[in-house]
Amino acid sequence: MTDRYAVIGHPIAHSQSPRIHSLFAQATGQAMAYTAIEAPLDGFADTVRSFMAEGGRGVNVTLPFKLQAFQIATDPMESARLAGAANALRFEGDRIRAENFDGVGLVRDIQHNLAMPLAGRRVLICGAGGATRGALLPLAQCRPAVLAVANRTADTAHQLRRDFAARIDLQTGGYDSLPGETFDVVINATSTGLSQTPLPLPAGLFASGALAYEMVYGKGLTPFLRQAQAAGVTRLADGVGMLVEQAAEAFDWWRGVRPATAPVIQQLTVSLA
Ligand code: ATR
Repeated sequence: MTDRYAVIGHPIAHSQSPRIHSLFAQATGQAMAYTAIEAPLDGFADTVRSFMAEGGRGVNVTLPFKLQAFQIATDPMESARLAGAANALRFEGDRIRAENFDGVGLVRDIQHNLAMPLAGRRVLICGAGGATRGALLPLAQCRPAVLAVANRTADTAHQLRRDFAARIDLQTGGYDSLPGETFDVVINATSTGLSQTPLPLPAGLFASGALAYEMVYGKGLTPFLRQAQAAGVTRLADGVGMLVEQAAEAFDWWRGVRPATAPVIQQLTVSLA
């Protein structure tokens, strides 16, 4: 029987995950089916349980259900516990294991695909929501010289510093705390990539040769990337590589085979020109 997987979200029509996992399955010769399921906003847990009852082996979870995915897990792995959110579940009997591969996907994209080693670099993440929570530990494990979080609501960033204090030495504040600071990697983990809102980034924020990384994918030049470009940054990236890399981690976790990501990233890339 073909093993079944799915991505669950609301809305879900835009999801690239079925395409990515089909390409992985083809390339690795894995017999699996991968579909997209739109769960009702108040019906995430029921949707997961029905899929399990039908013999589903695992799911990816996307907005707005990542917190609930963590909550229904019987066995959350460390990445999910630290993020308080999960983006991949694996079913074993009636047990639900939960992982969060967003952060490792981001780090692999930056260090491997974009050839920007993070050790000793000054790294800034804009935003202090779920996307940032998932990214912090994998970023910190790369031993940057500085790991900073700036957020519109400074208190949310300070809360992150307290939550992660046992593991990470975070620098936190509002955007008004940034003037005078320079970063080698600036990551936009706010939801502004989906709107037309720029961030209040001060002049001189980007170091020479800096990388500007937008977590949103497929939107071309977002306001954040335009800001970086206007500041002279030439290394611009969106989150397509992060998306494909987190998918590859989940695929490996489910199937025990790590697919090649470069050809899939190439297929999904939208020009940033
Ligand atoms: P996610 O789970 O995708 O990270 P989230 O938890 O809703 O989503 O977080 C959204 C992030 O985008 C927050 O850091 C938010 O800042 P606040 O904590 O101050 O709300 C940030 N954000 C959203 N709109 C923004 C805007 N117009 N300017 C700056 N930051 C914005």
